[in-house]
Amino acid sequence: MADRVYIFDTTLRDGEQSPGASMNTEEKLEIARQLVRLGVDVIEAGFPISSPGDFESVRRIGAEVGDAVVVCGLSRAIAKDIEVAAEALATAKRPRIHTGIGVSESHLRDKLRITREEALERAVAAVKLARSFVDDVEFYAEDAGRAEPEFLYRMVEAAIKAGATVVNIPDTTGYAYPEVFGELIRGLMEHVEGIEDVIVSVHCHNDLGMATANALAGVRAGARQVECTINGIGERAGNTALEEVVMALKQRRDVFGVETGINTREIMRTSRLVSSITGIRVQPNKAIVGANAFAHSSGIHQDGVLKERTTYEIIDPAEVGAGASRIVLTARSGRHALRHRLEELGFELRDDEFERVYQAFLEVADKKKEVYDEDLEAIVGESERTLDETYHLQQVHVSCGEPGIPTATVELVARDGRHLIDSSHGNGPVDAVYNAISRIVQVPNDLTEFSVQSVTRGIDAIGEVTIRVRAEDGQVFTGRGAHPDIIVASAKAYTNALNRLLAAQSQKRTVEEEL
Ligand code: KIV
Ligand code: ZN
Repeated sequence: MADRVYIFDTTLRDGEQSPGASMNTEEKLEIARQLVRLGVDVIEAGFPISSPGDFESVRRIGAEVGDAVVVCGLSRAIAKDIEVAAEALATAKRPRIHTGIGVSESHLRDKLRITREEALERAVAAVKLARSFVDDVEFYAEDAGRAEPEFLYRMVEAAIKAGATVVNIPDTTGYAYPEVFGELIRGLMEHVEGIEDVIVSVHCHNDLGMATANALAGVRAGARQVECTINGIGERAGNTALEEVVMALKQRRDVFGVETGINTREIMRTSRLVSSITGIRVQPNKAIVGANAFAHSSGIHQDGVLKERTTYEIIDPAEVGAGASRIVLTARSGRHALRHRLEELGFELRDDEFERVYQAFLEVADKKKEVYDEDLEAIVGESERTLDETYHLQQVHVSCGEPGIPTATVELVARDGRHLIDSSHGNGPVDAVYNAISRIVQVPNDLTEFSVQSVTRGIDAIGEVTIRVRAEDGQVFTGRGAHPDIIVASAKAYTNALNRLLAAQSQKRTVEEEL
């Protein structure tokens, strides 16, 4: 069996340190329940001495989760912190106290203002005190990423001798890069006495965008616990993203040779829950959980994915609970993607029909960022309507405003190829367009109904216009037109109604002649 890497989730502690992410106890409980479903090994539920709310959250989560996971409370290497953490963890079946102290020169000199020897003493005392309350004590060497390796070895060795069961090597400031961080962990594995009896943990921050890469380098070097947060939230630029590290370990088991206990199908649900509770939105291009993580936009990629998903996708979206791959129809989509989607929508088109729809699709896609299914339905409907036209709308131009006289110029192409242009004014732009078309077509009729509705969402949605006209003999004809510009849609709808009227009249004439 492959080695197990433990997943330590700190969404409720370090994640909550993201500006604006504070959560109340009920919200933390909801996330904790989901983290259990996700299968994390440790939940860092809070920093009990920091606030009554944190104390209560650690206490309630400890009581709630039973023995499903280890529940951890943070403390500094200060007796009072540790005592309060122990008190909050009294409800937990599997409690862990997380305690530690800075190890870099910067932290010792400028923050703690103590010597290395004093830091060692405080670390040992903290671990011993924590061990007097619980059997499971994790020691963190804060800012290890910037520490001198030899001093870090001494500190970690002292913590292990004092009773630490897990040693956490944080890159607190996100300063490390993978080779160096991996070397640091390798150095600990080689030089620290007793290291083989404890779990080495990595806790990386993302200030240079390398948190996941650094954590993975740590695993390659022997770390067997990764500290992370859902969606990578956390102090400043955040922490290692749980979903990234878990999927990297799973997807590249050939490289890492380890496994986690995470039920990856719960990843998306957990991501959405954390995002909705904290109000921190996930960037669309975020690995694994971003809205575009499984969306394909370019024609070349869409063609590949439709032939075989794995040509452009290394993870099956279903594996992380993200449904299916998404083909986004845009101006860059090719014929293959469009035909595939039309077939999914139930449109079986001949090649010549498809070509007309494709050209209409490109026109719409040029105006819109994304073409939705409803747009496609309107495009196909529009294309069907332009078959066997007596008049085809070639162009329409309007000028209107206040003050001003709404005026329209229209060009229609007749079936025999003549280009007919006329202009008119009206009460508004649509009226002016109708008057201009009427001057060209010259078929008496009354407009009895006009309605416009948006086919999709957004300001750039396609508008669909439906009109009814009554011919001199009382027959009513419906016309439809769809276009992102509702004036153009109106012109198309009117032309469509007149074409139907003319087709009916010519059919009537043929029947009368035959009789
Ligand atoms: O980043 C850090 O060093 C921490 C410690 C408290 C573990 O969050
Ligand atoms: Zn941190």
